[in-house]
Amino acid sequence: MAPQTSQKKIVYSFIAILALTAILVIFPSDETLNQLLAEGLGLSIEKGVITSPTGESLSMMMEKSIYIAQSIAHVLKVILWMALIVTLVRLVFFLIGKTVYRGSAQAQVSSLLKTVLSVVIYIVAFFVIFQSQFPDIQLAPLFTGSTIIGIVVGLALQDTLGNLFAGLALQADQPFQVGDVVVIAGRGEGVIEFVSWRGVQIRTFQNKLLVISNSVLGKETIEVSPKNNVNARVVFFNTLYSQSPTRTIQLVRETVRQVENVSQKMRPIVRVRNLGDNGIDFEIKYWIDDYRTYNDTDALIRQRIWYLFRREGIEFAYPTRTLHIEQKAAEQLPDEAFNSIAEHLNRVPIFNPLSDEEIERLANNSLSRIYAPGEAIVRMGQEGNSMFVIIRGSVKVQIPDGDSQKVVGTLAEDDFFGEMSLLTGEPRSANVVAIVETEVLRIDKTGLKPILEANPSLVESISVMVEERRLSLLSATGDNSAEENQQKKSALGSIRKFFGLK
Ligand code: CMP
Repeated sequence: MAPQTSQKKIVYSFIAILALTAILVIFPSDETLNQLLAEGLGLSIEKGVITSPTGESLSMMMEKSIYIAQSIAHVLKVILWMALIVTLVRLVFFLIGKTVYRGSAQAQVSSLLKTVLSVVIYIVAFFVIFQSQFPDIQLAPLFTGSTIIGIVVGLALQDTLGNLFAGLALQADQPFQVGDVVVIAGRGEGVIEFVSWRGVQIRTFQNKLLVISNSVLGKETIEVSPKNNVNARVVFFNTLYSQSPTRTIQLVRETVRQVENVSQKMRPIVRVRNLGDNGIDFEIKYWIDDYRTYNDTDALIRQRIWYLFRREGIEFAYPTRTLHIEQKAAEQLPDEAFNSIAEHLNRVPIFNPLSDEEIERLANNSLSRIYAPGEAIVRMGQEGNSMFVIIRGSVKVQIPDGDSQKVVGTLAEDDFFGEMSLLTGEPRSANVVAIVETEVLRIDKTGLKPILEANPSLVESISVMVEERRLSLLSATGDNSAEENQQKKSALGSIRKFFGLK
């Protein structure tokens, strides 16, 4: 309220109090009133009672008129007294509000107590004044005596009293004050504008009024962002994966600090929230001075980020998908990959006798496969339809030795393995495990057969290698009774037999 208006209010109240007091002072007392009545009606007074001067009793009509006149005077007195009390009480509460709650957020909240207290004072004052003017009428039984009235009033005021007591409980707790932003689950959000004995008035962010009764409010979950608190907010944004998160974080943090209403007491936090489908998702946590305008501040932050990104060449992420189209093994290899396979095959000693054409054919029938360190490429005892040439990495050949594995050999780039099973049709003779990340070329029987048919010397050299490895395996297992020649023959023979060669 403007200072001038409140001064006026005080002055008017004082004038009203003086006027009412003056009227009450000059208001005729019962005796004066009786005297006036007696004079007016041509009657006399005996011991304070109006009587006929002739000593006869007064007519019914006369008595009624006197009674009505006296009653009107008493009612007028009650009204004047009540007006004086009401003006006085209002002035006192107004002055208390001006001094005790001066500028305090409690001022509005206290209106509930003020109302309750005023009503109590008015009732008591009315009771006392009424009894003084009409001592013959007993008011007390009205309040105490009638149980039925009590029940009726109780039922009628059930909701009102519920609101009143819920309001008093809320006021005792004081979970919020005028000016705080509250979110009431399932009902709405806004700024507390007014608290009364009936309920709370909230102004929503759409400038609508939300009025909720105290009894309903008492049962709800209320999220309060106090007015005098530095409340936090979270705003999200994202960038493309190509942008450096460190740089983005530094730039955005500085920009957010400059935005109005962002608290300078706490440094905003910008961090990577998620590596999302479309890009890097960030979140900004900042503290706000005036929570009532958080929508505007959030929006301003987003707007500033857009300008910042424009200046710094940072891009927001938009929905993107990276498609990796896998080429089927049978499809033609790209030239570069094909050449590198052929190169590797050329470097393998046993393929030395092969012509360029045959190497090319072999390369066409080869597949590149990659294995992780520790991963088994070949498992002992399994059927084997392919052999492998190491392009990159190394492997260890091992056989079971009790509970552990015994390494019988290690092979590196350009070495081959798996030939024993492929060429003889026997089960795999050992486990072959990648030592480091290893890339191999897998050559299948169908790709090798025409080449073996055209190169008998290749069959010979492979069979030599097979025999050597067999011997080494036999000695590792402690079985050294093998007869070299016999084995050589049998290896060569079984290769020929298995491939149907002459
Ligand atoms: P295969 O029997 O098909 O499967 C296991 C492979 O380990 C085998 O072929 C050989 O290529 C290889 N191998 C077996 N013993 C040795 C060894 N002593 N040295 C190197 N490699 C071997």
